[in-house]
Formats: sequence, C-alpha cells, structure tokens
Amino acid sequence: MRLDTRRTGFSLEAPFYTDPSLFNLDMQAIFGQHWVFACSVAEIPEPGDYVTLDYGPYSLIVLHNDDGGVNVLHNVCRHRGARVLTDPQGTTGNLVCGYHSWTYSPEGDLIHASAPGEMTFDKSCYALKRAHGKIAAGLVFICLAEEPPTDFHETAKIFEPYIAPHELAKTKVAYQQNIVEEGNWKLVMENNRECYHCDGHPELACSLFPTWGLTDETIPPHLEDVWDRNQQAQASLEYRCRRYGLPYEVVEELDTRVGGIRISRESLDGAGESFSADGRRLSKKLLGDLPDFRLGRCSMHLQPNSWFHLLGDHVITFAAFPISASKTLVRTTWLVADDAVEGVDYDLETLTHTWKQTNLQDKAFVELCQQGAASPFYEQGPYMKSEYQVEAFINWYVQRMREHVG
Ligand code: FES
Ligand SMILES: [Fe+2]
Repeated sequence: MRLDTRRTGFSLEAPFYTDPSLFNLDMQAIFGQHWVFACSVAEIPEPGDYVTLDYGPYSLIVLHNDDGGVNVLHNVCRHRGARVLTDPQGTTGNLVCGYHSWTYSPEGDLIHASAPGEMTFDKSCYALKRAHGKIAAGLVFICLAEEPPTDFHETAKIFEPYIAPHELAKTKVAYQQNIVEEGNWKLVMENNRECYHCDGHPELACSLFPTWGLTDETIPPHLEDVWDRNQQAQASLEYRCRRYGLPYEVVEELDTRVGGIRISRESLDGAGESFSADGRRLSKKLLGDLPDFRLGRCSMHLQPNSWFHLLGDHVITFAAFPISASKTLVRTTWLVADDAVEGVDYDLETLTHTWKQTNLQDKAFVELCQQGAASPFYEQGPYMKSEYQVEAFINWYVQRMREHVG
C-alpha cells in the first residue's frame, strides 16, 4: 500500500487500477462509506417503483416509498441469501424472494415465511438490511455506512439551487444507456475530469468550446478565435443567469470536502441551447419553469461516482458502478420534460446522438489506460495543468483511503 508516498501531480501506481485487493478496499473505504449517486426520481416516479443497483460486492434495492422518500434495502434474502429482486427496475408492493417465497414489506420487514410444519421463529430478526437514502433536488443518493458522512447536507445545499430550477421531479426518462467499460472506476472518473482529450470527441466538439480547462495564459494560438467566441458566449450567459436569478458561480471543492463537488455553468457553442450540431434545442419543452433555452450547460461532478449536465431542454445523468478492478458499468440517463412527446417534441436518436458517441469514445480512452496500467512497464505520469481536476479527484481519493486505513 503506497498511500503515504503518493507522488503529487502524478497518476496513481498501477495496482490502484488493477489489483483486486485494492479494489476490495475501494469498495469498503469509498463505496461502502460515502454517499453514492443511485438514480434520479424520474427513474422511480411512483410509490412502489424501484431500481436494483449492483456495484462491487453490493446489491441494493432503491424503492420509492409512500412518504415520498426512498427505502434502501440490501438485496440479500435473510433466508439463504438469494437476490430478492432480480429485475433492474420495476414496481412492487411487497418483496417476494423467488427462491422460497419469503415476503418482505417495502420497509424490508419479513412479513411472511411459509413453513409447513415448521416451528415458529422470530420474524423480526430477519428483516432485509437497510442502508441510508436521501433525495436532493430530485437526485437519489445512498450510503451503506452505519454513520454516513455528515457533510453531505452541505454539498447538497451547494448544488440544490443549481439543479432545482430544472425540476427533475417533473421529468421522465427518455433513454438509458448501460455500457460496461473495461477499466477501473477511477479511470472512468479521471477521464471525465479533463477535456485535454476532447479532440477525440467530434460530435461533442460541435457544441462544446474546445478550450475547457485552458486560461488566457495557456491558450494556444490556433484556439484564440474560439477563446474569444467562448468569452463572449460566457459573458452573455452570465448576464442572463443574473437576470433570471439563476446561480452562476463556479464551485470547486473536489478535494476540500468529503462530499467532493464541482459545479459550473458553461456556455455552449452555436445557438448555445443544447448538445446538438448547431447548438439548438433537442427537445421543444423547457424544463421546470426555466425562462430561456439558452442556458448553456450546468455541469456537476460529484465524487465518488457521478457527473451531470443540465440544460434548458434536457438533463443527462451519469453514474459509474464498479464491477471489478478492471470493469465499470457506466449508466447514462437522458431526462426530458414529463410532458414532452417522443417524435413530436424530440427525436430520440437526435437527442441521444452526441453523448452516445461521446460515451463510446470515452470508453475506448478508459480502456486504453487500463491496458497500459496492466503493463509491467507502466509508470506514473504527470497530469498537465488542464488536468488539475483529475489531480483533485485523485487527491480526494487518497485522502479518503488514508482516513479509512488510519
Ligand atoms: S433464499 Fe430467499 S426465501 Fe429462501
Ligand atoms: Fe471524454
């Protein structure tokens, strides 16, 4: 374990990306202790709606309860451990295990265990185990720790004013994409913290200014025109946000708090409305009661496992669910206004095109890095200035791991 000798400004040593025992430690120290993004309320809109989530060794049920909150239950039957719910999502009243029909209430209490000729036993000792759940601005988070980190409510206070105007509770899932990347979850998170590689995203490049992470001082000559156009678009976006009372300031606390967050509003190129080739809206229905389509993108990164883009016409949520040291499920969900009609207000292919392509390109980048980390000749490499957020993410990770191992 080389947490103490971490070389600042450099990528991690190979075992952090490849070693199954370090993966197990990540699952305990990070995914077993911190608030993890699970889904949005649009995925479980009604009481009884649930999603099942699997990551690392864990399997969980996240169920919309009658009080408007979520019940988070370990999806491990208290009889002999079978998965209780096997569908990725659905609607249920009581939860019935498919093996011997033990039946649990939506709160996880064991209410029925058929046992012909069996002596009675104390059902109250065999409830499904519970974890913590929390909804903030329409995003559902879960925490498996007995005592969840307490600073998350401060993180939520930071992002709520940015996200609330998009009213996620009044959205519906237009599309969900699940891709398995042959890469460690940290490489997935690192990859989305920089746009140094964004030349590899031709579709995204149409709406994203290719100057992300650069400054006045670091802008290369061939990007000076784009830089000026970006500056103008950004100034106009700031003006509109101020006029509408929408928060605009960049918050950057990737490694200065336990609930690591970065949130910013950035202008989009072209019409500035959405992730389309000309920057125009991809859905005709505005979200919430937003005043204007031309709001660029509000982008949020939340550690350990999620990032988001919120636009006037749609929202995209991204969640990374680790599978093994070298495999991660990346789930992308496109949300549109709940009254938007497919084929009328939006075309599904066009809506999802840019990020479907971008995700496949990112998957390829992550996989190249994973392959490199597996080579005996891999050595830690330096992060560039435009990769300062990658460094911040790794710094956050190392701090959390150090706290855990003590
Ligand atoms: S394992 Fe679930 S009822 Fe037997
Ligand atoms: Fe990318």
